[in-house]
Order: sequence, then structure tokens, then C-alpha cells
Amino acid sequence: MVYTLTTPLYYVNDRAHLGSAYTTIACDAIARHQRLKGESVIFITGCDEHGQKIQRTAEAAGVSPQAHCDAVSEGYRDLWNRWQISHDRFIRTTDPRHRLIVEQFFSRVEARGDVVEGRQQGWYCVACEEFKDDPHEAQDPECPIHRRPLEWRDELNLFFRLSRYQGQIEALIRREGFIQPVSRRREVENFVAQGLRDFSISRVDLPWGIPVPGHRGHTFYVWFDALLGYLTALLEPGDEPNLERILQRGWPASLHVIGKDILRFHAVYWPAMLLSAGLPLPGQVFGHGFLTREGQKMGKSLGNVLDPGVLLERCGRDAVRWYLLRDIPFGEDGDFQQQRFSDLVNNDLANTIGNLLNRTSSMARRWFAEAVPPAGDGRSVEHPLARSATQLANSVQAAMDRLDFRAAAEAALQLATLANGFLNEQAPWKAMKQQGQEAMVAADLYAVLEAARLVACLLAPLLPELAARMLSQLAQAETPHWPTDLAWGLLEPGLALPQPQPVMARLDLDGPL
Ligand code: MSP
Repeated sequence: MVYTLTTPLYYVNDRAHLGSAYTTIACDAIARHQRLKGESVIFITGCDEHGQKIQRTAEAAGVSPQAHCDAVSEGYRDLWNRWQISHDRFIRTTDPRHRLIVEQFFSRVEARGDVVEGRQQGWYCVACEEFKDDPHEAQDPECPIHRRPLEWRDELNLFFRLSRYQGQIEALIRREGFIQPVSRRREVENFVAQGLRDFSISRVDLPWGIPVPGHRGHTFYVWFDALLGYLTALLEPGDEPNLERILQRGWPASLHVIGKDILRFHAVYWPAMLLSAGLPLPGQVFGHGFLTREGQKMGKSLGNVLDPGVLLERCGRDAVRWYLLRDIPFGEDGDFQQQRFSDLVNNDLANTIGNLLNRTSSMARRWFAEAVPPAGDGRSVEHPLARSATQLANSVQAAMDRLDFRAAAEAALQLATLANGFLNEQAPWKAMKQQGQEAMVAADLYAVLEAARLVACLLAPLLPELAARMLSQLAQAETPHWPTDLAWGLLEPGLALPQPQPVMARLDLDGPL
């Protein structure tokens, strides 16, 4: 079984912003978690490159749409590499193989009798690439997300007969766990309860799109084309672009992670399209919240957009990942606050976690021949730190399974806090000055080093680099394997410990980001 996981395919109208980085980092943590458990994972991301929005952006920049897409998608690819995102696939919807997949998919849907001609009238938001529900007689309606005027459209299009799937979609969205978090399910249920209406899947006079076979002058509506990118992405390099092949390559996806604004497309339109084409449905759709900055929506007009490239240069990967994953409840909206960001990074990572390892490793090296001390009862599963570690490791695993990064981060951090507390109570620096206490000091230091090893293993999906630095400081393999490495007492007494280096630098930001 393969665990297939997707980010949305990002529009290339502009460079990536913190919102897209947030989704991608969250998916990276999920992909790493699955790999740590020993699952084989296909982690898909990519770019959505067709449609009116892209065509207009390219026109405004005076370049061809293809040249524009090439440049912006290269920017995404480069950014994800710099963030060390562990994606396995990067799909572009202008990939020639994608066109063949879209054509095949459409012919299945058409053969099902699910394509009809119709007249599409309504208010359209080009930035969302979506018809809005505003009444026809509305005066100058605006998009609530983009705060831009909607455009009136009246054209003959091809429609997908979504209305035929009312019953099946109702049953699907009722299914436990399909829409996550549960708080978002209601909104989709209300939408479906109003009665599903057929939606248009083609545009006329829009050259920047995939032509609809057998319907001259029509190109596919960008969403119809983009969702199918999740299928195309699964093709391996030598594969014929063929829908049957995709079933052997990791479809259906286990999880689509998206922002709450595009939940309807993923939880309603997409499953209906798949049903029509006779393909299996994804396991789960998770709609996360939106990020604001210091309480305000991020936007170019406000001049407060956080550029993920700048953030990376100034703060580093661990710091930003920690803040986004530890502080924002995944699924809810979150606010980026600079002061809180640096406080959390400094308190949790530099002080609590970094110092724990540094001071313990220094003492062990000084008093026990630069090596892991003799374990004594520090290796026993009855040791107080062993009991806490086992319990907290279970909490981290359960939290990661339900995509609750915050609870996972807190549990890992709690283990470090407990280990610091234990060290302060035992005060080995005092005990070491007394005769006959050496064995006890050795056992205490052993237990704390072992707790630090487990903190690192537990942090690995969230902060892979900090975890790797901690593990190498403990002379361990940099990537853990959870089924075996979460047991207590695996650190070998006598193992040489390298010279300690600070594993996490403090964040000192001069001026706003
Ligand atoms: N191209 C479509 C997706 C097609 S998937 C087959 C699209 N692209 S997007 O680039 O506009 O948005 C991608 C994701 O970024 C969306 O899920 C959106 O919710 C998310 N975000 C955009 N702004 C955001 C924030 N300010 N905060 C968090 N995520 C946000 O939609």
C-alpha cells in the first residue's frame, strides 16, 4: 500500500507566499511522519498553469503564457528545494502527458452521458476561477476573498452533470473522517443540501487551456484540468499516460490537504468527477485555515506579505516550521506574530531542547570518558523518565495520526521539559563532587541523554534538521525509524559522544520581517 498525499497545485499567477508555504510544510511533516512509520509515500505538489487568471497575468507582463508559467513554476520548484520539502512529484498542468490524461478522463465522463451543453450565466471571480452564488440581479458584487469586482458571464458551455451525483456525494460527505477537520464538514453539508447543480467544465474563447476533444472552440475549465493533475502526477517517467496505469501507481490518494477556500472543489466536484470516470475516491480531504499577519489579512495592497524566501534566509527552516506547526492549530485560522515567533523558537528550541542536549552531553563527556555513561537503572523501563517518554511517544504518534501537529509538538517538548526538570532536581554537578555518587550520576545522565534521543526522534517529522543534528550529536543515524527507535534504553553505554555544538541558534530579529 502506498500513502499518496497532495498539496494543492498552486496557481502561477504570482510567486509563492506564506500561505502556500504553510500548506506545503504541513504536507511535508505528514509525508515524513508516514515514512518514519515505514510507509511508502508519494508526496505530490506542483503548479496549476492554465486559465484566464494566468493568461491575463502573462499578458500584463508582456510575455507568452508558457514563458510566464515556466518562470513562475521554476520559482516554486526552487523554493521547495530551498525549504528541503521532501516531495516525490512536481506536476505542472502544462506537461504534455497531462493533456492526454485530461482527454481520456473527459472521454470516460462523456461516454457516461455526464456532459451536456448549457448556458452559463453568473458572476465570476477570475482570481478564484470560480462562479459565485451572487444573485443575477446583484449590483457590482465583489469576491469576498479577493475584494475584487466579479465579472458577469453569459456563454454556451459544456456542463458536467453534477446533479446526478447528489445521493452519492451526500453519502460520501457523511462518511466519518472524509472531510477534516469535522468543523468544516457542516459547511459542505449545507452546500450539498441546497441541491447540487451541474457546473460548466469548458470555456469558449479562452486559448490558454487544454482544448476539449470534439468541441471546437472550447477549452477545459481550469479546475477540471487542475484536479486531474493529481492523477497525472502519479505517472512514472516511462509510463504511457493511461488512467488504468494510474491505478497501479498509487491512486486513490490517501489525503488531499488544501486551504478551506477550495474545500468544495475537493470534497464535492472532484469525487463526483471521479465517480463519473469510474475511478476510486480519495480517503480524506483536510481543509486547513488561513494565515493572517499581526491580525491583518496578508495582501499586496497592505504591503504586509511575508515572503517565504525571505523568511527562510533570515530565520531558517527549523524556526519557521516550529512556529507554523507548533503554534497554529492545524485546521483553524492562525496569525503570524513576530514577537511570539521569536519567543517560541528561543524558549522551546534554543533553551529547552538545545540546552538540554548540550549540557547533558558536556557533563557525560567530562566525567565519563567522552562517552555515554554506564546506564545503571537509567536504562530501566521503570525509570521515571522512561515512563514519561513512553507515554509521550504514544501521544506524539496519536497526534500525528490525526494531523494535530500542535499536540505532537507539545508532547515532544514536554519530554524535554521533564528531562530538564529531572536534571535540575538531581543536580549531577553537585553530586559529582561527593564521594560514591558516580554510579548514580552516570545513571541520571544516561536517562537524560536517552530522553534527548527520544525527543529528537519524536521531532523528526516536524523538524527533520534539528532532529538530525541532535541525533548526530548522540552518535545516532540521522533519520530514525519509529517502529524500532522509540523504545527506551537503546543508547549504548560507552558509545563515544562527539564534541557538543549548539543544535539551535537563537533567533535575534532586528526589525520587522
Ligand atoms: N490552483 C488552485 C488549486 C488547484 S488544486 C487542484 C489554487 N491555487 S492557489 O495557489 O490559489 O491556492 C493554493 C492554496 O493556498 C489554497 O488552498 C489556499 O487556501 C492556500 N492559501 C492561499 N492563501 C492563504 C493564506 N493566507 N493562508 C493559508 N493558506 C492560504 O487554489
